[in-house]
Amino acid sequence: MNQNQLKQQVGQKAAELVEDQTIVGLGTGSTVRYLVEALGKRVAEEKLNITGVVTSNATADLAQKCGIKLKSVDEVEQIDMTIDGADEISADFQGIKGGGAALLFEKIVATNSKKNVWIVDQSKLKKQLGAFPLPVEVIPYGSQKIFERFQQAGYQPTFRLTADQQKKKTDSGNFIIDLHLQQIENPQALATKLIQQVGVVEHGLFLNLVNTVIVGTPTGPQVITA
Ligand code: A5P
Repeated sequence: MNQNQLKQQVGQKAAELVEDQTIVGLGTGSTVRYLVEALGKRVAEEKLNITGVVTSNATADLAQKCGIKLKSVDEVEQIDMTIDGADEISADFQGIKGGGAALLFEKIVATNSKKNVWIVDQSKLKKQLGAFPLPVEVIPYGSQKIFERFQQAGYQPTFRLTADQQKKKTDSGNFIIDLHLQQIENPQALATKLIQQVGVVEHGLFLNLVNTVIVGTPTGPQVITA
């Protein structure tokens, strides 16, 4: 089974967990794409009545094409369950997200959800976080100064660029600085340091948020509960 097939497997499995008459947070990324398509199928075939709360413009476009009705996070009282991908998950259920530049809305939606489920292929499971570059979303004004401070701190920062070498803009018009840390010894301490920097909007450390992880493996999806 290749990586895409594993992503498809967990996307479809997660779609089965969604109950009728619920509000569902919809993450972003190539794994979530399979989830949204499978949910769209359930809406059409089973007349499943759900409301989606999206985490990016890309997911909003796809969900609308799939016939899923949407509301913003501010229009709902609480989200029943959010299903999202992840870039890395450590053995103690902490995660790095933001490879798709949607970390800010993803974290807002996740923190307003009763339950959070991550869907990943098995390559995303790690002993420790940090091999995947940690995304930090920053306000453009003053971002070069933050970049220099990250350099001085030894974080090996790079601005995320588009295919035509422009600084990538998030859905909120901010920049992403990726930190090439290799290993994160203390995610909580790093998270606190990053969020205290003026101009940092959010970072991709998702700590103590996830309840269930569905892992795609060649022998079928494995559901792991925290
Ligand atoms: C989006 O910003 C990310 O947090 C994604 O959820 C994460 O990068 C996983 O993406 P894939 O499902 O494409 O691997």
